[in-house]
Amino acid sequence: MKTYLVTGGAGFIGSNYIHYLFQKYGDDVYVINLDKLTYAGNLENLDDVATKKNYRFVRGDICQADVVDPLVKEADVVVNFAAESHVDRSIGAPDAFIKTDVYGAFILLEAARRHGVEKFIQISTDEVYGSIIDGSFKETDILEPSSPYSASKAGADRLAYSYFVTYQLPVIITRCSNNFGPYQYPEKLIPLFVTNALEDKSLPIYGDGKNVRDWIYVLDHCDAVDFLIYHGKPGQVYNIGGGNERTNIEITDLILTYLKKPHTLKTFIQDRLGHDRRYSVDTAKITALGWVPEHKFERAMNSTIQWYVDNRSWWGKLKSGEYREFYKANYNKEL
Ligand code: NAD
Ligand code: DAU
Repeated sequence: MKTYLVTGGAGFIGSNYIHYLFQKYGDDVYVINLDKLTYAGNLENLDDVATKKNYRFVRGDICQADVVDPLVKEADVVVNFAAESHVDRSIGAPDAFIKTDVYGAFILLEAARRHGVEKFIQISTDEVYGSIIDGSFKETDILEPSSPYSASKAGADRLAYSYFVTYQLPVIITRCSNNFGPYQYPEKLIPLFVTNALEDKSLPIYGDGKNVRDWIYVLDHCDAVDFLIYHGKPGQVYNIGGGNERTNIEITDLILTYLKKPHTLKTFIQDRLGHDRRYSVDTAKITALGWVPEHKFERAMNSTIQWYVDNRSWWGKLKSGEYREFYKANYNKEL
């Protein structure tokens, strides 16, 4: 039985990954979830696993060596999801991005170097390559991150690589495209637009809305990460993508059509600063190992939109600002 240290496990992808691990391994896995519970961390995402004997939640910061050290010592595998993850916030206030995304990764890598681990997975992002108009980025292409978020992720990505080269730490770096699915904080494009439409609010499209993202269902991302723990080669970078490139306008239209809401809710507003036009990754390297995404885009999108329809109480609190009170009352913890 392996012990996984999952950092950022109370966030969107991390909580889906913990669900995925229990679904896949049942009692034959031990999961430690280390999460600081920033605005993006939500223990409600994990209510269904909270009392499992083979699960433990630790509230803590990956930047704090004394917190991280004993947990890494206990772990066979470290999967580092913890990060500040929203590009818009990084434009307004980059500070926390540098601290968590770069320094936090360093603290985890140092602990892994001290104690040794079977695998250290650094969850990077396709944004480290920057924008591409034609074709798709391969793992060997140069990195040209263009936001404080993606630059901090690129820093951690290369730092993790340096721990493989210098100290032979068995690091694997993943660069995945845009995820969608349940439990995504309603500040990101899809949950923001679905929940705004449900509240008959306008959908704020940046610029001309023709920016392209490649969308992957979150459980496919989780599956790829776990696949790489067993089949990936230490020291290597792997792109992960869904192969579903869509403009933001296409995504918006799909949401409004599914919800039967008027397309007049679409509102074009000032562009994001430094807005990357298109992301696209070549996934031949992971495909050659035998991994492909399972979920079909339209079906997964419909079930995701329906999840937000069915779970209004989950996102309603986050959007209304009552969340802090709710959290304190239910979990007896200050945020
Ligand atoms: P998220 O913002 O939903 O979750 C981040 C989690 O990290 C939260 O639970 C938060 O409380 C926790 N956290 C933040 N700072 C911390 C700290 N200092 N110590 C401990 N925990 C801390 O993010 P997400 O969308 O789930 O992304 C998870 C990871 O995947 C990130 O590393 C992100 O860069 C990467 N990624 C995301 C996507 C995507 O489309 N969302 C795509 C590719 C890669
Ligand atoms: O590509 C992977 C990355 O995808 C991850 O590394 C990031 O953590 C994740 O946040 C995501 O970054 P994006 O900037 O692509 O995602 P976001 O949902 O913020 O925006 C998607 C697109 O939609 C982007 O072109 C900006 C646009 N957008 C977004 C918002 C929030 C709008 O037009 N209006 C909006 O209100």
